[in-house]
Amino acid sequence: MSIYKIKVGIIGGSGLENLANHILKSRTEILPQDIKSDFGLPSGKIFLGTISGVEVALLSRHGPDHKICPTNVNYRANIDALKSIGCTHILASTACGSLSESINRGQLVIPDSFLDRTHSRIGTLFDGTSEKYPGVCHVPMEPAFHPAMIEVLTQAHKELGLDVKNGGTIAVIEGPRFSSKAESKALRLLGGDLVNMTTCPEVCIAKEAGILYAAIAMATDYDSWRESDDNVCVTDVMTVFKKNINKVTDMIVKAVEIIGRRQDWDKDIDELKDLIVSSNCSNFN
Ligand code: ADE
Repeated sequence: MSIYKIKVGIIGGSGLENLANHILKSRTEILPQDIKSDFGLPSGKIFLGTISGVEVALLSRHGPDHKICPTNVNYRANIDALKSIGCTHILASTACGSLSESINRGQLVIPDSFLDRTHSRIGTLFDGTSEKYPGVCHVPMEPAFHPAMIEVLTQAHKELGLDVKNGGTIAVIEGPRFSSKAESKALRLLGGDLVNMTTCPEVCIAKEAGILYAAIAMATDYDSWRESDDNVCVTDVMTVFKKNINKVTDMIVKAVEIIGRRQDWDKDIDELKDLIVSSNCSNFN
């Protein structure tokens, strides 16, 4: 029997704003102002409900009607809010540009690393703002995404018979503008397979909060590196995302079911908690 009660946070990206209406059973909601966080308000309402009997909490990263730009998303409040309502796991979805010939439009990818090219975001919970997160935490980011959660997503696409690529590096840019051709080519040279604007600091902050986090990425465009293709534009991103959104939703629903099927999450949760404690300099005084 597990010590921890499992609750899965679902952070929906572009195009997933209406997920709550479609997949949550016994839906209730919490208003942002009713969630106590030392970091301010989360992006919007958190919808609560169940999927396959597992408790879930759904938050739209860019807020209602996609009004919050990537730089201004309050990543810390979002993660702290999900933690404070008991989330032990997070599944995030994200639209990305493809930086690879082998990742086509509409392809789903389970990323396993990132290249953080953002420059105007606070990337830690441990900056003295909150008594809940004292000291300074130098969290290792390898593995960047939680291996057991990657395993869950891998199992999900196998059970669904979906074509999903396992592994890939997301380069994360500040945005909101897209990359120039030179930048796009440079990101490829740096080892990026995909490019988006939100995985950092979200994945890092989730780890600091002790939440098991993985993402399902969808390639919507070829950014601007590919001579034989159109350069990225929002219309194309939204069109491709909408066309393939059911695959992402199916993956999330199946992944939650698999998380619930697996009884033994205590070890993973305890190991991550221990990692955060041992990464905090104030525990060495
Ligand atoms: N999201 C979707 N496509 C993108 C791109 N080309 N660059 C950054 N973020 C994206």
